[in-house]
Amino acid sequence: MVFAAAFVASLLLIAAAKPMEPRTMAVHEARAEPARGFVLSGPAPAATELKLRIALRPNNIAGLETALYAVSDPASALYGQHLTAAEVAEFVKPTEETLSVVSEWLSENDITSTSVTPAGDMLQIVIPVDKANELLSTEFSVFTHVESDTTSIRTLAYSIPAALQGHIDFFHPTTSFTRPLVSHPKFTAVKKREAAPVADVAPVSAAVPASCNSIITPACLQAIYNIPTTPATETSNILGVSGFILQWANEADLKEFLTDFRTDISSSTTFTLQTLDGGENVQTPRADAGIEADLDTQYTIGIATGVPVTFISVGEDGSDGLDGFMDQITTLIGEADGTRPNVLTTSYSFQAEDDLSFAVTNTLCNAYLQLGALGTSILFSSGDGGVSGGQAASCTDFVPTIPSDCPFVTSVGATSGINETAADFSSGGFSNYFAAPSYQASTRGVSGDTAAYLATLGTTNAGLFNRTGRGFPDVSAQGVNFEIVWDSETGTVDGTSCSTPTFAAIIALLNDELIAAGKSPLGFLNPFLYSPAGRAALNDVTTGDNPGCGTNGFPAAVGWDPVTGLGTPNYALLRTAVGL
Ligand SMILES: *[C@@H]1O[C@H](CO)[C@@H](O)[C@H](O)[C@H]1NC(C)=O
Ligand SMILES: *[C@@H]1O[C@H](CO)[C@@H](O)[C@H](O)[C@H]1NC(C)=O
Repeated sequence: MVFAAAFVASLLLIAAAKPMEPRTMAVHEARAEPARGFVLSGPAPAATELKLRIALRPNNIAGLETALYAVSDPASALYGQHLTAAEVAEFVKPTEETLSVVSEWLSENDITSTSVTPAGDMLQIVIPVDKANELLSTEFSVFTHVESDTTSIRTLAYSIPAALQGHIDFFHPTTSFTRPLVSHPKFTAVKKREAAPVADVAPVSAAVPASCNSIITPACLQAIYNIPTTPATETSNILGVSGFILQWANEADLKEFLTDFRTDISSSTTFTLQTLDGGENVQTPRADAGIEADLDTQYTIGIATGVPVTFISVGEDGSDGLDGFMDQITTLIGEADGTRPNVLTTSYSFQAEDDLSFAVTNTLCNAYLQLGALGTSILFSSGDGGVSGGQAASCTDFVPTIPSDCPFVTSVGATSGINETAADFSSGGFSNYFAAPSYQASTRGVSGDTAAYLATLGTTNAGLFNRTGRGFPDVSAQGVNFEIVWDSETGTVDGTSCSTPTFAAIIALLNDELIAAGKSPLGFLNPFLYSPAGRAALNDVTTGDNPGCGTNGFPAAVGWDPVTGLGTPNYALLRTAVGL
């Protein structure tokens, strides 16, 4: 009823202003109720300015996907021949027709837009709530996220002219909800210890020190995964570390960490700072912040010896409606070819796939597709909520996390122990938005990974997850009892947050060797990881499960599983597998 009234009102206004045919409107995105944890608080004030992003339909995203696989599949003749930004933009830019019909509609409504992506596929407009209500035949409301007591202006449905439905993918923020971003590990995971850090354990050797069963240090990871300690040489081979939600990387903590745990390299080794959306890197310790950034910088710099690390601090001034996730990737796509990070590691995620609409999730996923086609390996932590994703509100659903649900990122789960077993918090499962990609559905003679797993699983957890979806994580690494320095003290943390920088550091070291040998960096990793050579270079983890907060989990199994993926890295074997 409300929508019908708004619809009529908007037609009258347009008719009064312009003597033209009223446009037939059609519902474009709708959801039955707000996302979990949000309640309706009332109408949005008419004069409040909304910054809205309009995603225009790319002209040939399927073509870009084909091109991505062609350069990322080791069996392809084009393997390693990553695309240029200009080549990517050719696939992503909207058609002339799309640009013209959308701009015509906006001008009819006296709205000016600015393009916010290199390919021109995303516009931004700034209009007050009453005008947005009229434009989209909707009624924006204030919703409160109860747990954090934060408010957002959203709607449960909106319309666009029916004639534009093939040209516009979405308006955002509208029906997608963003709960406060989750980073892993949780702050409470830090267990500060009075005692000095455990003595440096022996460097790489066949035997892993027994102490690694209770405390993980860089030396442990080097021993467990056969990671070399010799410094990398390639100065262009940047490893990007994402920082969000005002979590900052502390240089003094890094120095102390290197002093304690990497006595063989300069304790002054540090990172370069890159900022966007008002990001910064404040060095004053805050009681509750910085653990993630300290962990991520310490375990990239501490493992990827000599690889240049850039800490990318994404501030809170952006207007992508996705906590800067989209802005970060747009920024990296916009950088000059040859200067982007070869690896990007991110230990933050959105807790539940259906908080965001399919259209918004798909466009974010396509941004990773673009960055992957440009040659960046993109790694995300799978989340720390077991099968219930990162969500706290309910423990009974199997909730995929974003962006691990996207087939174009490499999702990293967690293990523990020297004889590795799945960490019980390691999020994993199956997407409801994206089908199992080719590398999981059938892999050159190896039967499809998700299908094989589901055959073994039988009826366990039937009805709680989507059997045709993209399965995640893809791989895993140690994620329990990582010794870090935070706020000048040592302590341990757990989480897929530990696993992700570890795996990313290993990829960065491989890239260093590849570039030194005149070869291309690895780029989008999954087609390689799922290839026979890739999977042979990973340690299959077959025990443990991920019950999350009390539900049944998925059990780890021989081969791929939605707890530990294909398994954990063996650097020596990966070297050979990538042709070194
Ligand atoms: C790991 O497993 C091997 C073989 O099953 C066993 O011999 C060894 O004692 C185990 N080590 C630890 C630390 O549990
Ligand atoms: C299950 O996943 C597929 C994609 O593989 C999707 O098309 C379908 O809508 C999903 N089903 C549900 C109930 O979400």
